[in-house]
Amino acid sequence: MSKLTRSHAWKALQAHQAEMAGVHLRELFARQPGRAREFSLEAGALLLDYSKHRVTDATLALLVDLARQAGVEAWRARMFAGEHINASEDRAVLHVALRSALDAFPARGDVMPLVRKAKEDMRAFSEAVRGGRLLGNGGKPMRTVVNIGIGGSDLGPRMLTQALWRHADAPQSVAFVANADPGDLARVLAQAQPETTLFIIASKTFTTVETLGNARLAKAWLVRALGSETAATWHFAAVTANTEAATAFGIARERCFPLWDWVGGRYSVWSSVGLPVAIAIGMDRFEQLLAGARAMDEHFLTAPLDANMPVLLALLGIWYANFFGAETHAVLPYAESLRELPAYLQQLEMESNGKSVDRDGQPVDYATVPVVWGAPGTNSQHAFHQMLHQGTHLVPCDFLAPADTGAAAENALAQAAALMAGREATLPQRRFDGNRPTSTLMFKTIDAYTMGQVLALYEHKVFVQGIIWNLNSFDQWGVELGKDIARALAAQAAGSVPGLDASTNALLARLREWRS
Ligand code: F6P
Repeated sequence: MSKLTRSHAWKALQAHQAEMAGVHLRELFARQPGRAREFSLEAGALLLDYSKHRVTDATLALLVDLARQAGVEAWRARMFAGEHINASEDRAVLHVALRSALDAFPARGDVMPLVRKAKEDMRAFSEAVRGGRLLGNGGKPMRTVVNIGIGGSDLGPRMLTQALWRHADAPQSVAFVANADPGDLARVLAQAQPETTLFIIASKTFTTVETLGNARLAKAWLVRALGSETAATWHFAAVTANTEAATAFGIARERCFPLWDWVGGRYSVWSSVGLPVAIAIGMDRFEQLLAGARAMDEHFLTAPLDANMPVLLALLGIWYANFFGAETHAVLPYAESLRELPAYLQQLEMESNGKSVDRDGQPVDYATVPVVWGAPGTNSQHAFHQMLHQGTHLVPCDFLAPADTGAAAENALAQAAALMAGREATLPQRRFDGNRPTSTLMFKTIDAYTMGQVLALYEHKVFVQGIIWNLNSFDQWGVELGKDIARALAAQAAGSVPGLDASTNALLARLREWRS
């Protein structure tokens, strides 16, 4: 048995779950007249209503005990002190520095001079692009910006560029290419002109196969149209921690924007990885994004655990994943412009906490991160909400409800109400049991500041869960094996791949046959 499942706090929660399992949310609301107010919390632009959860004051106290027992406060202090809490890679975890306003941070190993310089460079470059002063080889200003990257070098800027489209006032269009399928790039190039297209190659390592493959295709497209590799150079910038590789690819050193080993890919949207966002909305608004995240950092650092938004979201997630056996968690943003948010959160949550050995390499005997999934409402209502309301799985949901999305916002509230209360009916098919837990996160509008708060909220939620599950949330060794096998398959032009299973070799043979 792990230390966690042997612990007093864990056992107390197990015992309490047995008492709570048969209690309906309707009853909890009837018993506690002030429940909506008592189980709501505001932080900056965000209002979190967590009253539609199967919890009482006693439940929350036990969950907070669990957080205390895991040392959440001490670990939080260690992260903000710049300690190497990413032990398996021996790295600090300092994405919070990217939005810090402190002169020096952290106390040991100040990174702020690097951060400030990177932001100045980002500002100068994004303003030059937006102002039409960054010219292509033929002397024309850029009209199209294409970010080539994948995972953390794609999902954040892609999601934010969409989320903040109302605030995008650049004359350029900003597009994103990630997939190893060349069709992804081809679709974007079909709308672009080589002499007015700027490619940003975003890759922390500058070794990611998909990104380098697409970057090479982009370069070939430019060289074909512009006549030479030197001409193509004018059309590239890079965001990377590996400047050597980027310059070897043919990107001018002064066009390489930095990343550092203390920023994980999925935590990097606050860095130069946000360059396409800064181009789309302007650096002043990008600074607003950072300010929103900073406000959430401050809240996370200072609010007591039982009134701390990321801590509460983390604990509620643990309540269902570990004590009710919930295997999935749905994220339902009620805004079309937030349609990429579930994908962003999938990487943030599942790449961080999708682990089955703990920080010491011991197998865990408890569930870790649930499957995170979702889609924008109201579309989702006409696709899978049937299952949320009447299916056999318990799926806790996060409803994100901006106030300025018209009827969509009311629909979010209606869905959460229905999931909570259910409805009696004589015909079993028409009966809704209810008692299905949801959080509602409301905010006035989707602007940069609010998005900064929302994303930092989820980052810290993931951090707290990782601490309680005793995981290193900041490595991702689980992505390596598939990459190795893909490399072996690509390298083997004919015949079967030695050491590979018969099924995969047979499929590979058929693939080649169909291609030839
Ligand atoms: O394969 C997973 C991963 O390493 C992610 O963690 C990362 O965000 C993505 O690949 C892209 O990596 P890079 O920025 O180095 O190209």
